[in-house]
Amino acid sequence: MDAPHPRRHLLAIGDLDPVQINRLFARAEGFITDGDTRPDLRGRLAGATLVNLFYENSTRTQSSFELAARRLGADVINMSPRTSSVAKGETLLDTAATLNAMGPDLLVIRHSASGAALLLSRKVTCSVINAGDGRHEHPTQALLDALTLRRAFGTIEGLRVAICGDIIHSRVARSNVVLLTLLGAEVRLIGPPTLAPKGAEDWGARVFHDMREGLKGANVVMMLRLQSERMEGAFIPSPREFFRFYGLDAEKLAWAAPGAKVMHPGPMNRGVEIESGVADLESRSLIETQVRTGVALRMAVLEDLARGDLDVNLKREGR
Ligand code: CP
Repeated sequence: MDAPHPRRHLLAIGDLDPVQINRLFARAEGFITDGDTRPDLRGRLAGATLVNLFYENSTRTQSSFELAARRLGADVINMSPRTSSVAKGETLLDTAATLNAMGPDLLVIRHSASGAALLLSRKVTCSVINAGDGRHEHPTQALLDALTLRRAFGTIEGLRVAICGDIIHSRVARSNVVLLTLLGAEVRLIGPPTLAPKGAEDWGARVFHDMREGLKGANVVMMLRLQSERMEGAFIPSPREFFRFYGLDAEKLAWAAPGAKVMHPGPMNRGVEIESGVADLESRSLIETQVRTGVALRMAVLEDLARGDLDVNLKREGR
């Protein structure tokens, strides 16, 4: 591997322009294998080290970063706040400085505080990837969603994408609005007034509180779970009531464009924001494809950052 390129981070979709995004997609496409055989790519990041530092629970993101890194030959350290010195009161910055002193090339962080990844990126000498910071952003989720859509529809330009549910607490929604509008999609946000952030229109998306109205002509319906861990007080009358008005079932899916595809970043709460019959409908659901595409997309991000190809953050650093 070439010498790692310092100080290249992926903290938010705004770090990327369309050329960089398409380059990333092209690289990820090269990592997608449809057959049973997978080429041995372990030389690509041999000698590199990735640290997964997840302060919030994760199934998909943490394991796919680990798998992506291992498929490229990197070493992986999984740090769990529950079993590390974080449990003894060590701060985020002290933990990061300690890990940084061991000389990793890539640090993947998930944290409940918006801005945690940016803060970290200013304190370490390795590349930082934001795997979700509070309600702020989850850029690799949006990138894998966009790549999934591009593969399903051939293009993102002109698609109408409806993102439904708990928008206010969702970093996935925010990253997706920025990315999908940048790539030419029309994005709609659907949810009750209590779960729609004030000023969401400023993100570049129309907000609907009536699901039938919002789903009209939608090519894609992306459902989001209710993030009860971020809720203080009552945002909905009850999960049953929420499902009645905003849960996706076959009847509501019929309000979207014919053949509309269904997405969900996971984890799903079946029967709350999505019915199993729709989530598991092979002809319409892209949910498993999202997970598969995520490994390839993260391989592309890791390789680009570790080899210094991606050149993200130039805008952020004002260079
Ligand atoms: N989509 C997503 O971030 O899932 P996890 O919380 O399982 O990582």
